[in-house]
Amino acid sequence: MGRARVDDEVVRRVAARLDAGGVPNAAVDARLLVEHVVEVVGAAAGCGGSVLDGLVDRRLARVPLQQVLGRTWFRTLELTCAPGVFIPRPETEVVAGVAIAAAAAAGPAPRVLEPCTGSGAIACSIVAEVPGVQVVATDVDPAAVELARHNLARTTAGQADPDAPAAGATGEVRQGHLLDPIDPAWRGQVDVLVANPPYLPLADRTTWSPEVLHDPTAALAGGPDGHEVVDELLELAATWLRVGGTVIVEIDDRRGEEALTSATRAGLVSARLVQDLTGRDRAVVAQRAG
Ligand SMILES: C[S@@+](CC[C@H](N)C(=O)[O-])C[C@H]1O[C@@H](n2cnc3c(N)ncnc32)[C@H](O)[C@@H]1O
Repeated sequence: MGRARVDDEVVRRVAARLDAGGVPNAAVDARLLVEHVVEVVGAAAGCGGSVLDGLVDRRLARVPLQQVLGRTWFRTLELTCAPGVFIPRPETEVVAGVAIAAAAAAGPAPRVLEPCTGSGAIACSIVAEVPGVQVVATDVDPAAVELARHNLARTTAGQADPDAPAAGATGEVRQGHLLDPIDPAWRGQVDVLVANPPYLPLADRTTWSPEVLHDPTAALAGGPDGHEVVDELLELAATWLRVGGTVIVEIDDRRGEEALTSATRAGLVSARLVQDLTGRDRAVVAQRAG
């Protein structure tokens, strides 16, 4: 978020409204909303008026802050958010970081696959940070594919981050189930497969906050058990990676041991867990055996 100059009294008034309406972290959201209006619409609108009131009303209706603003921030990028597409989360920045390091270490023109791309956050950050990379992302949901293509176009045009893309980096987004849309010639040739797939059990839905209920259920729930897509991706990694290639899959922090077992069962080696910034198990990382 740009650090627009805002009137602290206006921020306090907005925070009081949000707090009275039961919105969590009201003070933080109030400042971001006022800064957004000043930055995008202008200082006069940020001092009150219908634009700010409209945004505050939407936040009071528990629309996620990122959907109210229409944008979010992920690693070095400012990304567009759209209704009906999963909002990227801060913990996924760590997952993307592991993929970026693996791709950067893989030599010139690394090949990276990112199924389940959503807004394209992971794919865009790899294109932004890894010189020479070729990224192909997929999503089954047409709305996600459209948004990911938009965010990728902004990244390659230098609009999401003035320093992006990295030299020679390219990306594209295809619609379909996991790796179905990928050129079969890439089978066994992929350096990095990274995904933040749906991984929660469907029954968890009753515990989700009003904001989380704005994300599509199919983006969050992997099935009745929750681990279905994680298991399928680890099995795909065992055939699509080149020997020594790396798979990184974001997981439910309650199911790290299970994810390690799934990786080993798929025939992958050197399986380990990566923690997010709160210390929770957040990804399983493994390699294709020689
Ligand atoms: C948890 S969201 C993650 C989005 C993005 N990778 C991120 O980290 O912000 C999961 C995404 O997977 C997509 N998805 C679910 N099942 C899929 C499948 N079988 N094949 C491809 N994409 C799928 C959903 O549409 C959703 O966009």
